[in-house]
Amino acid sequence: MNNIKAIIFDLDGVLVDTAKYHYLAWKKLADELNIDFSVEDNERLKGVSRMQSLDIILEIGSITLDNITKSDLAQKKNNWYVEYITKLTPDDILPGVIPFIKSIKNSNIKMALGSASKNSMLILNKLNLTNYFDAIIDGTKVSKAKPDPEVFLKGAEALKVLPCQCIVFEDAEAGVEAAISAGMHCIGIGSENILKKADLVFSGFTDIVFDKLLL
Ligand code: BG6
Ligand code: MG
Repeated sequence: MNNIKAIIFDLDGVLVDTAKYHYLAWKKLADELNIDFSVEDNERLKGVSRMQSLDIILEIGSITLDNITKSDLAQKKNNWYVEYITKLTPDDILPGVIPFIKSIKNSNIKMALGSASKNSMLILNKLNLTNYFDAIIDGTKVSKAKPDPEVFLKGAEALKVLPCQCIVFEDAEAGVEAAISAGMHCIGIGSENILKKADLVFSGFTDIVFDKLLL
């Protein structure tokens, strides 16, 4: 990977350990609806929007609901999720993230957030992460969810760089697909089995030496 000018980070499950709270909140809702929803099923929810996540859960349970009920259920899940994230502390920032983003801040590489979450600003502000980013593209700024590349293309545009000059960090299959569709390099954070389409996969930031990546 050379000629890299920018890094675009996904938020949930990449910078902060919030993917587990999304799962717990969806699990609670699935239990209420008597839907059997597993950790494996949850992989399909990663990176996709709130309403699409609900649609996947309802599909698993073979349940059809009207839009008003669906929007009430999505709100209910979000209320539980927000309860979790209002209690976030710096310990919920994933290991190695702060040294990694500090080293990039000291370089001439720009940083953007590219997340589907409408709660991104709440999380970034709560954990004092907002000021690291030169651009923030979140769920309030996009109309098409990952695997559509919109969120990442908007990030590159805001940073005034070309897609081929960007590396995306992602923990979700849908996010890796979005980065590839955007014409960007992609580094998976998590399991190689799930993120096999990424250019490289690391289990976390503590394993990454940034200078070596750019060789
Ligand atoms: C993504 C998560 O970052 O944000 C998804 O990986 C989540 O699981 C999506 O559904 C939307 O988040 P929110 O906070 O707007 O419901
Ligand atoms: Mg994620």
